[in-house]
Amino acid sequence: MLKEMTSLILKHTIASRSHLTPELVLRLITPACPLWRAREEEIPFKDPFWAFYWPGGQATARYILDNSGVVENRKVLDVGCGCGAGSIAAAKMKAKRVVANDIDSYAVAATNINAKLNDVTVETSVENLIGDPCKEFDTILIGDMFYDEAFANLLFEWLHTLNADGKTVLIGDPGRHGLTESRRRRMSLLARYELSPSSCEENNGFTHSTVWMLNK
Ligand SMILES: C[S@@+](CC[C@H](N)C(=O)[O-])C[C@H]1O[C@@H](n2cnc3c(N)ncnc32)[C@H](O)[C@@H]1O
Repeated sequence: MLKEMTSLILKHTIASRSHLTPELVLRLITPACPLWRAREEEIPFKDPFWAFYWPGGQATARYILDNSGVVENRKVLDVGCGCGAGSIAAAKMKAKRVVANDIDSYAVAATNINAKLNDVTVETSVENLIGDPCKEFDTILIGDMFYDEAFANLLFEWLHTLNADGKTVLIGDPGRHGLTESRRRRMSLLARYELSPSSCEENNGFTHSTVWMLNK
């Protein structure tokens, strides 16, 4: 099964460095791939979120690559890892342990492919960890997970519990509606990045992306 998933991913994606972290090479579906403009029924994956490098995830990974201290020697959990870039950035910047987590097993397969391409090893998990105390971790990465209102409510409450338990929570987000003004008041802005105008289509029209840390 894993072998089939891996070959399907390799068949339909290309290796890309056209994003905010060109030092990472990632297998993605880009406008250069036939699937980019395919009709829904032609796509062999259900909701292939892992095949895109979302602007929130790009910002989180960029921040880690430029500020290794946030992950160095830390035990990092990347929730909703998608293509795995946040985890790969953390592994490159010498995190003690990195677990890439996503409920989509294709995301985990894509993360393993991308980790190998970037010469790092990450652990993976397909469990739904929302609500879990995550005792083995001290740093939580979130890349672009505030796109759905109901899920944003669940996620934010859980992240606050983890933060109150002493964990560092980093959130990459391009301005999704789930990251409301009242939520932003409970976080500190760490960085704001301009996204390349040439990748506007890939970034869903977003021109900037940001990284936040939940306030202690
Ligand atoms: C918008 S994508 C972001 C992917 C990646 N972080 C990035 O920024 O490129 C959201 C990801 O969250 C995953 N996801 C959704 N609900 C989840 C949950 N409860 N636990 C873990 N992953 C989840 C989806 O499968 C998807 O891969």
